[in-house]
Amino acid sequence: MRRLFPSPLSPADLDDREWGLAELADLYAYPAGLPAGTAWLRANMVSSLDGAAHHEGRSQPLSSAADMRIFGTLRGLADAVVVGAQTVRQEGYRPARAREVFAARRAALGQGPAPVIAVVSAGLDLDFSLPLFTAPLVPTIVLTGADAPAERVAAARAAGAEVLVVPGEGPGVDVARVPGLLAGRGLTRLLTEGGPRLLGQFAAAGVLDEMCLSLAPVVATGTAPRIMAGPPLAVPERFALGSVLEDGGFLFTRYSRV
Ligand SMILES: NC(=O)c1ccc[n+]([C@@H]2O[C@H](COP(=O)([O-])OP(=O)(O)OC[C@H]3O[C@@H](n4cnc5c(N)ncnc54)[C@H](OP(=O)(O)O)[C@@H]3O)[C@@H](O)[C@H]2O)c1
Repeated sequence: MRRLFPSPLSPADLDDREWGLAELADLYAYPAGLPAGTAWLRANMVSSLDGAAHHEGRSQPLSSAADMRIFGTLRGLADAVVVGAQTVRQEGYRPARAREVFAARRAALGQGPAPVIAVVSAGLDLDFSLPLFTAPLVPTIVLTGADAPAERVAAARAAGAEVLVVPGEGPGVDVARVPGLLAGRGLTRLLTEGGPRLLGQFAAAGVLDEMCLSLAPVVATGTAPRIMAGPPLAVPERFALGSVLEDGGFLFTRYSRV
């Protein structure tokens, strides 16, 4: 892996070597000194060269070992991972692990051993017997709307999940309120892993602070969505480039909202 931007600080940055997870964690550290009660919402997604966000329903065919190291690092830095229910169903989400390499850093920041997973779902058609709900290190949060089926809410709670109702104007969750709600619970370093429909809503609501985009050197064609799906913004929003790493032809970019 090499650092291409910011411009190599030393010739060593251009060395093609394996970066340690602690080094990656330094590079991707969340901004310090956020105003009290506010969260920083970062997204991490992988895309093919032609813009596909998955191949036959999975993101793994677009990923690589280096991409998974960055994925793991971003989890290791987060207080909470916010994810859409379809991604949970499709990718078979499991609870986040506590990893020794991030333990001291997390303890110093007052974070628990692993991030909380927060699943966004309107219908709650989720398998609450899965370890994601029954055996996480920290209880999984389910974010749902006011119209959520009462028996599914009860099933989620019986499994051990914490159900939070975030009413919106229509059915489902008002995603604009999610960062503030989680910040109010002390979860300020937020990571969303998509999928495209959830991420599109975060972007449209103007609450996406940072985009970590892995560009995979593959073409997929087909009908998979882009990394954000949903109605267009009235005016495209500008992001500023923060860093670019390269590994095996993959580009690992990081952009922050201007
Ligand atoms: N390329 C990548 O990095 C990447 C990352 C993640 C996922 N993916 C791929 O993306 C696909 C899934 O993405 P997706 O866009 O179809 O789905 P998604 O965004 O993961 O989940 C959509 C679901 O989330 C819930 N949801 C979304 N917005 C909501 C709201 N405002 N209120 C309440 N619930 C809401 C609904 O769940 P209910 O149906 O339960 O009501 C909805 O069906 C998978 O194939 C996965 O492999 C790729």
